[in-house]
Amino acid sequence: MFRLLITDPISEKGIELLSREPDIQVDNQPDISYDELLQVVEHYDAIITRSRTPVTAELIDRAKNLKVIGRAGVGVDNVDIERASLRGILVVNTPGANTIGATELTINHMLSVMRNAHMAHQSIIDGRWDRKKFMGRELYGKTLGIIGLGNIGSQVAIRAKAFGMKVMAYDPYIPKEKADRLGVKLMDNLHEMLKQIDVLTIHAPLTHETRNMITKKEFELMKDGVVLINCARGGIVNEEDLLWALEVGKLSGVGLDVFSKEPPPIEFVEKLKKFPNVSLSPHIGANTYESQENVAVIVAQQVIKALRGMTVEYV
Ligand code: MLT
Repeated sequence: MFRLLITDPISEKGIELLSREPDIQVDNQPDISYDELLQVVEHYDAIITRSRTPVTAELIDRAKNLKVIGRAGVGVDNVDIERASLRGILVVNTPGANTIGATELTINHMLSVMRNAHMAHQSIIDGRWDRKKFMGRELYGKTLGIIGLGNIGSQVAIRAKAFGMKVMAYDPYIPKEKADRLGVKLMDNLHEMLKQIDVLTIHAPLTHETRNMITKKEFELMKDGVVLINCARGGIVNEEDLLWALEVGKLSGVGLDVFSKEPPPIEFVEKLKKFPNVSLSPHIGANTYESQENVAVIVAQQVIKALRGMTVEYV
């Protein structure tokens, strides 16, 4: 009998699939704390996590029976892959499964910031009716810069083009033909792209290459009044430098779904509050019913295959 622990909330569809397997005992503890997990992890053959659970070297070392870590989502930055590999533990994820959820939240933040929609909503709630205050800007005719033209970046590009935006991308790992097919101008120099854009959106994983990719130096290259959207990972944009860019007007608005520490420290939130044109959400890019069903079903299938020693698609 295999024992499997689910450490984060995932859709019932995935749990049902796993529970149908006669030789897998499913333990669903979506609120388990890291300390509790450390105490029990040795009893499990498989765990399924989202981004809430840090799968550290310490945890992996205690997981004497662990054979597979299922990451219900794309980003594996919360898993110590190196330590898992050293211990012969397979790490599987679900690329593509929540692409549309993350894409649509990106467009949501972009529109919200350009049109002050979040502020306009709050003004009515606060009992005000001030139409003059909420003059916005249109996406039409503006230039969008995308960092990372993978699944999500590509879908954002398609939608941005439908809005009449010019789209540029920086992604050293994708072929020019792919960008051409999408009608996106692929830039081989990030700094060159930053000088030309009106809106910047990030769709790259957090790696040693992308950590602090956007700092004061990069903001200084941008035109005044650029809008920044980050629904990828905190840590890619330096948060102190982001506050500076808002302060000096390099950024006229920001949409953030992710933070370098989640939840973000209250001090950082207090500083962000000074700038009304900041639209925030608590890492909900993948939180649609559709994306969560996809993610849970795919991660369940992958983990079942891995436990049976079969080939898995996403490692
Ligand atoms: C992802 O990496 O796919 C998401 O950030 C997953 C999540 O919401 O946990």
